[in-house]
Amino acid sequence: MKPVRKVVIPVAGWGTRSLPASKNIPKEMLPIYNKPVIQYVVEEAQRSGAEDVIFVTNKEKSVIEDHFDYNLQLERVLERAGKVEQLKAVREAAEMVNVMSVRQKQQLGLGHAVLCARKLVGDEPFAIMVGDDVLFGAVPGIRQLIDVAIAENMPVIGVMEVPQEKVSRYGIIDGEEINPGVYRINNMVEKPKQEDAPSRMAIIGRYVLTPDIFDYLDKVKPGVGGEIQLTDALQAMAKDRGMLAVRIYGARFDAGDWAEYLTANIYFGLQDEKLRSDLITHLKKYVNFE
Ligand code: UTP
Repeated sequence: MKPVRKVVIPVAGWGTRSLPASKNIPKEMLPIYNKPVIQYVVEEAQRSGAEDVIFVTNKEKSVIEDHFDYNLQLERVLERAGKVEQLKAVREAAEMVNVMSVRQKQQLGLGHAVLCARKLVGDEPFAIMVGDDVLFGAVPGIRQLIDVAIAENMPVIGVMEVPQEKVSRYGIIDGEEINPGVYRINNMVEKPKQEDAPSRMAIIGRYVLTPDIFDYLDKVKPGVGGEIQLTDALQAMAKDRGMLAVRIYGARFDAGDWAEYLTANIYFGLQDEKLRSDLITHLKKYVNFE
């Protein structure tokens, strides 16, 4: 497999779980500690060697592209005030990766959003990173998939074990472990009932795919919730040419879930030495951890 240089990040969904916070601010721009959710995702792409990020957006989301561009007026203010650290932080976001974007004009599902990026991806392998899944670990999540995809020359999807009572929120794989943490996929089911789930290995928002996925997406009929499901196209592709799943190591937060979003804020806050002890003091004041 050729190197993976392009990453598609779909951010065109309505974010209904995050209302009312996401009424006028895209949920991807809500902060986790001092950075918007989407910046963690783009940093993971950059740390994994991606050069180009393709956002699949809608007309309410141009602020996401702006975040990864210069804000010269603000930079001048910070420069004049000698606020060196803040200046570095705002410039860093603009210099992270090359940004492209394409509109999804109707929100017809994640599979449809990926299909919108077809022309920009072209004829090369690419990654998909779902814009509200935040991963953190020693090896960036999508890098773990890229390494296996290149070594095995196969498309790869990221999975993590979830509790039995949460399987119905995810696509679940039925696979056979061929190497530690690497599974050959036999089947996958979108949002199964607990009793029908073939395993607890849930598909999370990271994929490394070859461009033939677009032909499958083209043919997919609306599935669960009337949406064009990426999982349906993946399932057809896995049957025809084989596909691997890789268990991703690291912390994962679904920023669309309030409990996980709030935990992520505390998790990243605690990583900052300057904030850590104050944060613990405040938490102890308001939360009984016994
Ligand atoms: P989600 O179902 O998690 O996102 O889709 P959502 O629809 O925005 O949020 P809720 O469930 O209503 O709170 C997974 C990803 O796919 C994108 C979303 O932006 C999210 O990153 N997506 C979904 C699209 O880009 N287009 C769509 O039509 C649907």
